[in-house]
Amino acid sequence: MSGPDLRRACAARALDLVRPGMRLGLGTGSTAAVFVELLGERVRGGLDVVGVPTSEATFAAATRAGIRLATLDELPELDLTIDGADEVDPQLRLIKGGGAALLREKIVACASRRMVVIADAAKRVETLGAFPLPIEVNPFGLVATQRAVELAIIRAGCTGTLRLRLDAQGAPLATDGGHRILDARLGRIPDPEGLSAALWAVPGVVEHGLFLGIAAAAILAADVGGTAEVSVLGDLSDI
Ligand code: A5P
Repeated sequence: MSGPDLRRACAARALDLVRPGMRLGLGTGSTAAVFVELLGERVRGGLDVVGVPTSEATFAAATRAGIRLATLDELPELDLTIDGADEVDPQLRLIKGGGAALLREKIVACASRRMVVIADAAKRVETLGAFPLPIEVNPFGLVATQRAVELAIIRAGCTGTLRLRLDAQGAPLATDGGHRILDARLGRIPDPEGLSAALWAVPGVVEHGLFLGIAAAAILAADVGGTAEVSVLGDLSDI
């Protein structure tokens, strides 16, 4: 069973949650891309929904798939957002932003009545932090902001290193909003809420990849004996 098969299995389960007329937040990343592709097939079969993309990449993919799109300004309240994640803990706390779209992803998720994660079950962890935590910062005063973020991380009881994310050409990666990403390699985040508050206190931090109290459920797909087994963390009943 390959990664694409697992992505397809959890995306297909998420598609069951979609009802006609829904206003959907469309996530970013390889798993969300499969959801967009499957949703496009349904739309071409007559399903009427409208989507708000969380990145330029998802805007392009959803347009290709024939999904009707709107901006969050046109549709400031959404019914459901389906998005991937880099880590999910038992309390449905997430690390997101491996694809650098965390700012729009968090804005869209928080404008939604429910957010549901779709991911490979390997992303389920007991303690967040093995995946580097993306921290989106304004490019102005980057060095000063980086130092302040390092101190905030220590004050929040974590240790590790910060690295400026580079693009494929080796230049500092620019997000869709024109910001930079600092990836914090922390290993463990014992107190995600404390770290979140500490990061928020740093001027220049635009957003961070800790999604706390946002996801209602996670649909996780695992390879069990060559078959994709889908399990649900949290509650899908009121979606
Ligand atoms: C995008 O910024 C991220 O938050 C993605 O949702 C996350 O990295 C998961 O991506 P994959 O589905 O590609 O693993």
